[in-house]
Amino acid sequence: MKIIRTARSMAAWSERLRREGATIGFVPTMGALHDGHRSLIRAARLRCDALVVSIFVNPTQFSPTENVTTYPRPIPRDRALCREEGVDVCFEPTAQAMYPGGFQTIVTVPAVARRWEGEARPHHFVGVATVVTKLFGIVQPHLALFGQKDFQQAALVRQLVNDLNLGVAIQVRPTVRERDGLAMSSRNIYLSADERRIAPLLSQALRTGRRMIEDGMNDVAAIERIMRQTIEQAPTIYVEYLAVCDQDSLEPLSVVTARAVLLGAVRIGSVRLIDNLLVKMPGGKSRVSPHYS
Ligand code: PAF
Repeated sequence: MKIIRTARSMAAWSERLRREGATIGFVPTMGALHDGHRSLIRAARLRCDALVVSIFVNPTQFSPTENVTTYPRPIPRDRALCREEGVDVCFEPTAQAMYPGGFQTIVTVPAVARRWEGEARPHHFVGVATVVTKLFGIVQPHLALFGQKDFQQAALVRQLVNDLNLGVAIQVRPTVRERDGLAMSSRNIYLSADERRIAPLLSQALRTGRRMIEDGMNDVAAIERIMRQTIEQAPTIYVEYLAVCDQDSLEPLSVVTARAVLLGAVRIGSVRLIDNLLVKMPGGKSRVSPHYS
């Protein structure tokens, strides 16, 4: 596996492979890789001739209250996972290489980014949209894979790729979960033992909401109330939002439709966790967007 640290060498590698007719798969990450990333890497490996994983803790997507310097950076372990999974290139640019002096351009996707994570984390999605656009320009992949756990991020990437004609196919893969339902995330390591014990309440609440819908309930206010009560069994979890939304616009719904998604975010101590579940309508028919595989 090659480690590439400059945009110029990365682009040259991709251009050569493209000239040779190879398809390039890409999994952008901020490192601290877990089995959720592994499943994206495996899916990309099966679909493409060559595979690039980027490891870049992007400073511009951290909110003013979040500390980019304490984000976990287990680089040797991350590289070992990439090697095990047959990754061809680990692209590990420095912040200086990505944002040299004089850097000015930003990418915004205002409507998709407005609510939920966008409200809770100012600047976050401008940072994500900008770095993803840059990474696509450098790596020039045919296919890029994202995890469904970051549902709003995936919606934003699909929107920006469409709007800017970036020519990259986007695939969103299902969330990988711990045995007790907790969505895998690089932030889970920050949970204390007590916090870890109650963390699965978020996925339990979303499952409860989904079950209510599958049983024919379409009163969104009642579904949100029951989901909230499920979580508030534990007084030390603070609910930031629990919502039934449209899968594409992420606007809240007042009545459940076949294109709904349940979104949730909670805070346990200093750790923020997010999760989501796609809705299956009664009769088992879920009109899930084809991007979600
Ligand atoms: O999901 C992440 O890890 C990051 O937001 C991404 C897409 C790599 C951009 O920095």
